[in-house]
Amino acid sequence: MSSTSPIGVFDSGIGGLTVVKEILSLHPNERIIYFGDTARVPYGSKSIETVRRYALEDTELLLEHSPKLIIVACNTVSAVALDVVKMTAGEIPVIGMIEPACREALRITKSGRVGVIGTEATVASKAYDTQLAFLANEGARAVATFSKACPLFVPLAEEGWENSAAAELVAKEYLGSIIEANVDTLILGCTHYPVLRKIIQSVMGPNVSLINSGEVASREILLSTISNSSSPEHSYLVSDTPQKFQTIGERFLGVQLDNIKQVIFEETWKVV
Ligand code: DGL
Repeated sequence: MSSTSPIGVFDSGIGGLTVVKEILSLHPNERIIYFGDTARVPYGSKSIETVRRYALEDTELLLEHSPKLIIVACNTVSAVALDVVKMTAGEIPVIGMIEPACREALRITKSGRVGVIGTEATVASKAYDTQLAFLANEGARAVATFSKACPLFVPLAEEGWENSAAAELVAKEYLGSIIEANVDTLILGCTHYPVLRKIIQSVMGPNVSLINSGEVASREILLSTISNSSSPEHSYLVSDTPQKFQTIGERFLGVQLDNIKQVIFEETWKVV
């Protein structure tokens, strides 16, 4: 592994580009190899078994590109399959979305009442709740967690409807119970939610701090080999055709996306 080895990032689809955006704003000289599993997205409504199988295959694909580090941008994978990624990656360090966000939440909450929003699978896994309870216990603090799955936020972000009346209505509906719980901190536990940050903040009110899990996870990147390339060439791999990824991805990332290639996973069917 050398300083020019890329940072590997994967997600169920396009959303992980919000994490790439944060990584590149902190480490602009690093090269990224990104995989978005656009043919099999969404992961958030799938079973744990299926997401764990996908996570293994996604990690194996990134390993073919000899990354110096793997970032699991997908919160769903981070919640239910981080151990699979770590085991598959072996010596290569792996950063998921859950632990950094929980540490940040405990750092900033005053009331100890923390909200978590994510996909159905992330919320059902209780990965954030468990991690928050564990870290709070270590620091001899009390924390109460209130979670809500917000699946419609994903298509709203992809449609570019993040500032629409529809998004506001959906946000009010989803976030009602979290507002009632009187949290002072809310973890955006899904790749797409930072795109809706403005509306989520306006619905939650100015006194609630929002945590972008991708942003805080990016701050945990400690590189033993640092690239000093001034214009690194990033590559993007997708499992469906690249067109939609390019259009929506450019919006999420805020820059033009070149070098997108389609990859096909060749598997055979078997009865389980
Ligand atoms: N990337 C997923 C996550 O962060 C959201 C989209 C999906 O359900 O696959 O959990």
